[in-house]
Amino acid sequence: MINTISGIKIQKFSPNLGAVITGVDLSKGINNEQFKDIKKAFLDYQVLFFQNQNEISPELHLKFGKLFGELHMHPAAPSMNGYPEIFEIHAHKDSKVANGEFWHSDVSCDITPPLGTMLQLHILPETGGDTMFSNMYAAYNELSDKYKTLLDGLIAIHESEHLYKGRYDDRGVNKNDIKTPVAKHPLIRTHPITGKKSIYVNRTFTTGIEGMSKYESSSILDFLFNHCEHVNFQIRYRWNKNDMAFWDNRCTMHRAIWDYWPNERKGRRVTIKGDKPI
Ligand code: SIN
Repeated sequence: MINTISGIKIQKFSPNLGAVITGVDLSKGINNEQFKDIKKAFLDYQVLFFQNQNEISPELHLKFGKLFGELHMHPAAPSMNGYPEIFEIHAHKDSKVANGEFWHSDVSCDITPPLGTMLQLHILPETGGDTMFSNMYAAYNELSDKYKTLLDGLIAIHESEHLYKGRYDDRGVNKNDIKTPVAKHPLIRTHPITGKKSIYVNRTFTTGIEGMSKYESSSILDFLFNHCEHVNFQIRYRWNKNDMAFWDNRCTMHRAIWDYWPNERKGRRVTIKGDKPI
């Protein structure tokens, strides 16, 4: 356990990924010292779980997000009434889909995909509804030098029409209002702050590799999807009411488990715009 000068306590979640943060009440706002500690922990641990929290107001949630950069607008998902930058995560007995059911890095189909995502859950099923995260630095480091050389310089194609078209119709999203971005990103990206390399493909959005046939690219992508989803790189988080998770989309993937139907799970998600991957 690390006790920082600002009073924040940081407890590693697993040897490989994540940290639990206590000693700060996000619903009261944070001061500069706490912000510095959180920012450092975010880079060091890649996923932070703030525990012992109260429900944060939408205004403070947006303010917390803006400390890390300009906010990202989701191209297709339903937003909270009056708060276009807040994506309401909500699944219940009548839902046809739940968000994030397959491994992904948020909206990797955007030209400037999100740097990070902050999700607070207010309604939880009695059991289930965990979220899994996987460490993409570790997945890269585990590759042989020969395979790293093969991947070096490859550009992956990320698409979204197959996912977003019709997905949110039952949540009041007008199909003419959605965007279905397509982007090309380096398959191996370098984190703009830590300088570390990570694998940046995922089975939700990545559909091909530039300059390769379907068969060539799918043999590489299938290998990488399975490799990146290996249990050794993963953690699985069991939520408490009002926990806030904050993950770095540049070096992690995640997957939300919808094992709680017909029960309800609800929260609010704020996403911060990132740089164009390099
Ligand atoms: C997501 O943002 O992909 C959803 C994560 C979750 O609901 O746990």
